[in-house]
Amino acid sequence: MVKICCIGAGYVGGPTMAVIALKCPSVEVAVVDISEARIKAWNSDQLPIYEPGLEEVVKQCRGKNLFFSSSVEKHVSEADIIFVSVNTPTKTRGLGAGKAADLTYWESAARMIADVSKSDKIVVEKSTVPVKTAEAIEKILTHNSKGISFQILSNPEFLAEGTAIQDLLSPDRVLIGGRETPGGSKAIKALKDVYAQWVPEDRIITANLWSAELSKLAANAFLAQRISSVNAMSALCEATGADVSQVSHAIGKDTRIGPKFLNSSVGFGGSCFQKDILNLVYICECNGLIEVANYWKQVVKVNDYQKSRFVNRVVSSMFNTVSGKKIAILGFAFKKDTGDTRETPAIDVCKGLLGDKAKLSIYDPQVTKDQIERDLSMSKFEWDHPVQLQPTVPAAGEQIWDVSADAYEAVKDAHGLCILTEWDEFRKLDYQKIFNSMQKPAFVFDGRNVVDAAKLREIGFIVYAIGKPL
Ligand code: NAD
Ligand code: UGA
Repeated sequence: MVKICCIGAGYVGGPTMAVIALKCPSVEVAVVDISEARIKAWNSDQLPIYEPGLEEVVKQCRGKNLFFSSSVEKHVSEADIIFVSVNTPTKTRGLGAGKAADLTYWESAARMIADVSKSDKIVVEKSTVPVKTAEAIEKILTHNSKGISFQILSNPEFLAEGTAIQDLLSPDRVLIGGRETPGGSKAIKALKDVYAQWVPEDRIITANLWSAELSKLAANAFLAQRISSVNAMSALCEATGADVSQVSHAIGKDTRIGPKFLNSSVGFGGSCFQKDILNLVYICECNGLIEVANYWKQVVKVNDYQKSRFVNRVVSSMFNTVSGKKIAILGFAFKKDTGDTRETPAIDVCKGLLGDKAKLSIYDPQVTKDQIERDLSMSKFEWDHPVQLQPTVPAAGEQIWDVSADAYEAVKDAHGLCILTEWDEFRKLDYQKIFNSMQKPAFVFDGRNVVDAAKLREIGFIVYAIGKPL
């Protein structure tokens, strides 16, 4: 029986391994983590992450061929294939702060693998890492070579949160990069055999290590670039009377452009787009490619601009001040169908409004008050000026922001309502009831284009929607 161990039981490690266990009953999969709390949650009825369909898959396999454990060293030493799916955040201090990937977690995982291994291993980079990381990892793994052979593969993950299970069950492609040597080819084949249990062969792409590592950064950069492009257009639409949805529809009909990922928004969030682009920028700078670095940097700058443009619109529309006014925030997660708030645009928007002394009432169906508290009280790390930290926001108790149990409670007596996540339930709200319970004039600022602006205007709202005629 092939034994797989995954180091890192997070948003990627958990769902990815659950699907491998589901599709490969003859493989034993152990997911390990240094966080005891996370492992405990994976072994409970309340999984540590919310992801549609995940619970069913976990329940089907857990205890049979899927195990969550904090016995990291034991499972690593027993495994044939070790996936490393630890976090690789942006460095906040030292060389490359604000841009470079922090590989501390990766390095400590690699050192541990080297120390506890007693048999040959295939080590798979699942985390998103800078191009050429495999070279550094190889050095660490072989530093106290005990005659063990380590083959490093790059197998970046392309799942998106909210659709992770679907993406894993039916991926557009699986990418496996390895050394172009007999040992490398053998390792690639071993991993290919795992995926081939459910992924059609023509969707399993192989490449050299550096192409595979770079393809992951490139894919995220291209995706984020599309959003910044359409968001840049949204500003021009508002200035000219064009409608960004109509523009997206028209350009998306060109098969060379395609219709996906052209939804204008208050800005992209999530743990990876900004981090991975900044990582790419840093790699370009290190290679002396300043023009290329500046090109990609602009994608993040436009995203920051979109968030501050939204805040400015709220304040300027409400007679240039929101001081003391209650504003309802509907949606805090970085996208629908997830409780993840990492880099969510809601953090910047809320902080911007609080900076203008608004009183916020926040509602999100999946985000807890504790999480919002943590997010709003954390100093913002300015990627472009890593030494300057924005002032922190006071805690909920100080009465300038609070969390509501539902959307109707959040909007009661509010002067304005901001939609920051495209949860389906926000499309179906009774906006007449909401209008009746709000202060007048009642403003709606739709950062996701989820409401029917014309209908809301008929009710009496003043509506601002991203990229739409006012
Ligand atoms: P995460 O923070 O949810 O999970 C990482 C886990 O690794 C944590 O639980 C942490 O405790 C654990 N960990 C860290 N160091 C460890 C060690 N030495 N030993 C054991 N456990 C350790 O992160 P994530 O969102 O799952 O992302 C993981 C990687 O996958 C990142 O590189 C990310 O860029 C990439 N990625 C993420 C997504 C996504 O949707 N979140 C998608 C594709 C790729
Ligand atoms: C993204 C990629 O889509 C995945 O392929 C990748 O594996 C992952 O990053 C990663 O490396 O972490 P994710 O961040 O989970 O996945 O979610 P997306 O659906 O890509 O959305 C990212 C952000 O862009 C969200 O805030 C979303 O609301 C926003 N977005 C997306 C738009 O504003 N407009 C769009 O048209 C699409």
